[in-house]
Amino acid sequence: MLNTRDTVLITGASAGLGAELAKLFAAEGGSLVLVARRQDRLDELARDLQSRCTVGVRTISKDLSRPEAPREIFDELSQAGIPVDVVVNNAGFGAHGQFTELPADRQMQMIQVNIAALTHLTRLFLPGMLERGRGGILNVGSTAAFQPGPGMAVYYATKAYVLHFTEALGEELRGTPIKVTCLAPGPTTTEFAAKADLERSRLFSFGVMDAPTVARAGYQGFRQGRLIVIPGFKNRLLAFTVRLSPRAFVRQVTKRLNA
Ligand SMILES: NC(=O)c1ccc[n+]([C@@H]2O[C@H](COP(=O)([O-])OP(=O)(O)OC[C@H]3O[C@@H](n4cnc5c(N)ncnc54)[C@H](OP(=O)(O)O)[C@@H]3O)[C@@H](O)[C@H]2O)c1
Repeated sequence: MLNTRDTVLITGASAGLGAELAKLFAAEGGSLVLVARRQDRLDELARDLQSRCTVGVRTISKDLSRPEAPREIFDELSQAGIPVDVVVNNAGFGAHGQFTELPADRQMQMIQVNIAALTHLTRLFLPGMLERGRGGILNVGSTAAFQPGPGMAVYYATKAYVLHFTEALGEELRGTPIKVTCLAPGPTTTEFAAKADLERSRLFSFGVMDAPTVARAGYQGFRQGRLIVIPGFKNRLLAFTVRLSPRAFVRQVTKRLNA
């Protein structure tokens, strides 16, 4: 059911899935808070959304790899008297390569953005949602969450965290009006693969989905109150097969896919 009064905060809205999710939430006619580092991209999206939908859009340029960033976002919105009804924790990135060969700083930033910022923003905004008796959290995980990922060890592990955290939170909030969803996409055409140096991997050589389709599945699943959304038949089949397969076999297959 559409709720036209929602204020929706979306991280990583300057590109890919975040920008597509922003378009879907904008169509509801509420207000948006768009967060990412690239202010010019956020402004361009805000102008586009406001020209097509009657939606209020605020942009916040913030580097979520800085530990203090979630608190700064929360304080800015609190001081402006903007209650956030829905948080979409979408910002994230990956890095392809052997654990000991990738820069340590980049791996630590990945943990900060993919795990710590997502957790902190959820912790900051959820109490207000519970008080007001409305709202939800849409966390963007990945099909990487379902198995270990040799060749992208830290990234896969961050997404396992997102899945388990979101599932546990969903159970804790069962019976409340707060909706919690983990969107777990498989390979999708965004800026992600190029930034992660994955474009030539087997993983991105077949069955890659387009961002609008993946975002729509996540958006609809969230509004329907589904806890886990895996867009695409191939991705659902793989996630299911992993559960029935020996872990050593799964590790080897994933290693080959990431090569
Ligand atoms: N594409 C895929 O194949 C795929 C598959 C499974 C899961 N996912 C997940 O989907 C989510 C969205 O990724 P995408 O595919 O849309 O990739 P994308 O096109 O690269 O977009 C990533 C977004 O995250 C933002 N971001 C990255 N680092 C940030 C930081 N330090 N501070 C603030 N914002 C930051 C980027 O904005 P700025 O650069 O402007 O800061 C951008 O808006 C990620 O969590 C990703 O792990 C993607």
